[in-house]
Amino acid sequence: MEVVITDHPELVVADAVAEAITGGATTLGLATGSSPLPTYRELIRRHREEGLSFANVTAVMLDEYVGLPHDHPESYTRFIHDNFTGLIDIGDVYLPDTMSDDPKKAARDYDELIARVGPVDVQILGIGSNGHIGFNEPSSSLTSRTRLKTLAERTRLDNARFFDSLDEVPRHAITQGLGTITEARRLVLAATGEGKAAAIAAAVEGPLSAACPASILQWHAHATVVVDRAAAALLRDVDYYLNAYEHKLAR
Ligand code: F6R
Repeated sequence: MEVVITDHPELVVADAVAEAITGGATTLGLATGSSPLPTYRELIRRHREEGLSFANVTAVMLDEYVGLPHDHPESYTRFIHDNFTGLIDIGDVYLPDTMSDDPKKAARDYDELIARVGPVDVQILGIGSNGHIGFNEPSSSLTSRTRLKTLAERTRLDNARFFDSLDEVPRHAITQGLGTITEARRLVLAATGEGKAAAIAAAVEGPLSAACPASILQWHAHATVVVDRAAAALLRDVDYYLNAYEHKLAR
């Protein structure tokens, strides 16, 4: 696993996406939330000003709230359209059918769809303050598939900032499982701010454990964690990460 500490995580993540696309990547895995927003803004800028084209790219979303209409301002369907995919020339954008009467089947169907359109070339990830990726809350099986999950209260509290009240935050989501996510060729996780420092330390330097689902990145052959100084504050091996990035050879 590569750990990059930088004042501009969005540039490192955008570089990874742009390099993959210009190198022929056709499938992008997208997260929502505040962490990837600066990356999406940077990619939109490169699309508009530098001609970066997503025309041959299909997007596969990580997760979506169950029961939130797709036109709800906080649905991930609406979020990704308004903040990224609706502003570039990307092809199809896939999400799980979270308004289905049978969300468990919708989750299985989505897992099969990902297998058909995948593998995902680059999966962009954020991390929850409790160490989740997607909505794989602590205790999630490290080999889990796309499924219906109950959100942790901490996640609902963290996400309440986007809603008018805590009561409005959905209790369930369909999320790609950890097994599904790790089938992507490359994982790039971005985190900023001191609120993510404990989760980043557990994910990067803690044991590989369902207690910190993001620690699954340690298991992946090509995973990059991109953090600012605040999110890196509880890491022990900072000198090595800085040194290794400064002297990085082309992969
Ligand atoms: C969202 C997702 C979540 C978020 C995480 C961090 O699609 O999969 O795992 O990445 O909750 O959210 P932010 O970036 O808002 O702190």
